[in-house]
Amino acid sequence: MSARVDVQLDALTGLRASQPGAQPAPCELADAGKTFYLETFGCQMNAHDSEKVAGVLLGRGYRQVETVDAAKLVLYNTCSIREKAAQKIYSRLGAYRKYAGEEKIIGVLGCVAQQEGEEIFERSPWVRLVCGSASYSKLPELIDELESGNRRVMGLDKDTDATFETEITRRDNPFRAYLTIIEGCDKACSYCVVPFTRGPERSRASASVLQEARRLADAGYSEIQLLGQTVNSYADPSAKRLSFAELLVAVAAVPGIRRVRFTTSHPRDFGRDIVEAIDTVPQLCDHVHLPVQSGSTRVLREMLRTYTREQYLEKIAMIRAARRPISVTSDIIVGFPGETDEDVHDTLSLLDAAQYDGVFAFQYSPRPNTTAQHMPDAIPEEEKGRRLALVMDRQREIQRARNEALVGQTFEVLVDGGSRRPGQWSGRSSSNRILNFTSPQPELLGEYVQVRVFSASPNCLIGEQVI
Ligand code: 5AD
Ligand code: SF4
Repeated sequence: MSARVDVQLDALTGLRASQPGAQPAPCELADAGKTFYLETFGCQMNAHDSEKVAGVLLGRGYRQVETVDAAKLVLYNTCSIREKAAQKIYSRLGAYRKYAGEEKIIGVLGCVAQQEGEEIFERSPWVRLVCGSASYSKLPELIDELESGNRRVMGLDKDTDATFETEITRRDNPFRAYLTIIEGCDKACSYCVVPFTRGPERSRASASVLQEARRLADAGYSEIQLLGQTVNSYADPSAKRLSFAELLVAVAAVPGIRRVRFTTSHPRDFGRDIVEAIDTVPQLCDHVHLPVQSGSTRVLREMLRTYTREQYLEKIAMIRAARRPISVTSDIIVGFPGETDEDVHDTLSLLDAAQYDGVFAFQYSPRPNTTAQHMPDAIPEEEKGRRLALVMDRQREIQRARNEALVGQTFEVLVDGGSRRPGQWSGRSSSNRILNFTSPQPELLGEYVQVRVFSASPNCLIGEQVI
């Protein structure tokens, strides 16, 4: 079970690679028999990987279709961060038994592929492709092998040096473009499967990041979200040796870019230079996602998070001391093995101290290949649920008060959604708050507008366009 009291809708939800507003596939290049269906689960990294996988396929003459039935190649980009997410894939694959022996090629990509490997072929013999994210650069060759009749192909490298860069990337959000700057993770949080599924940290050369940012600006994107599991651990491998903060400033300076976001930051590598950059460069969004995971130093030690509660709160104080108000959001895990009532109390009091604008809260789920997997003193599921509710209830009240304090203020909003009701729009502020608002204007998608807030709820602000 997971729950969100948040201002971010798109993290950790089941995202599909085809959404309204997506660019049309280059149909004229497509070969009628070469069709693919791609469904994505998990985080923004997965969503962006799917965009790149779609790009590779489009570049090879494939055409994207909306249904499994219409597709020759059916791909699932999977998430294994919690057990439920991983199980979902097996039940989805179970439904495809009926395609066994048909022409259809069923493939599993992403973290479950990396984690389960050949086991997937054993449990679902109709699957023909298994490929983890660290092997995506080999995807064209793997697809060649399938096209030339190989029954089963597998890409499960872990310690590849390569980052996955593609000629064409199909972007699914017409307004916000994702740009990966660092892949993998070298931290070793005891509950987390990511270092295993996504391999070691690999940063992209700053020149390549900037070149892509320029390409995105030329293609009309004004908002870029820099991605990495620990995005601020970025270490430029080129001679330029840009720090993460320097890279932020350089991306923000690309002509045409109005907003730069980044996620997810690790508290250990979160330095003052990042806050200074946000303070001085208006294009850098005033939002930091800085997961704490627990408010108890004892639990943090068991989680191998490499900081104490006090050290984390010092980072928060540093952010709060900025001249620009910066919105902060977090992830919390409840029910880690051995977590006591006192530890839960510490997490609740940290919520009060940190004053987050959004929290993703999760029940701990033991994962394969992690050191916490066999820790004693597991917390019963029901108790985890109770703790989750405590965290959510407390955070909801914090957000209610924080959002109510914004009534009367005006925010610049990038409009990314309309409603069926005429005159109703929604979008996000630089601080990543969701604003639902009214406007007499007929067409606002993709526009930046000023919105004055007249009421608030824990999860969004309600307002009207200031004309
Ligand atoms: N159980 C529950 N939540 C987890 N997360 C990562 N691993 C686990 C796990 N085993 C959560 C963390 C992380 C977010 C992406 O998912 O809070 O920040
Ligand atoms: Fe997982 Fe920790 Fe790495 Fe985040 S920093 S991806 S929680 S191991």
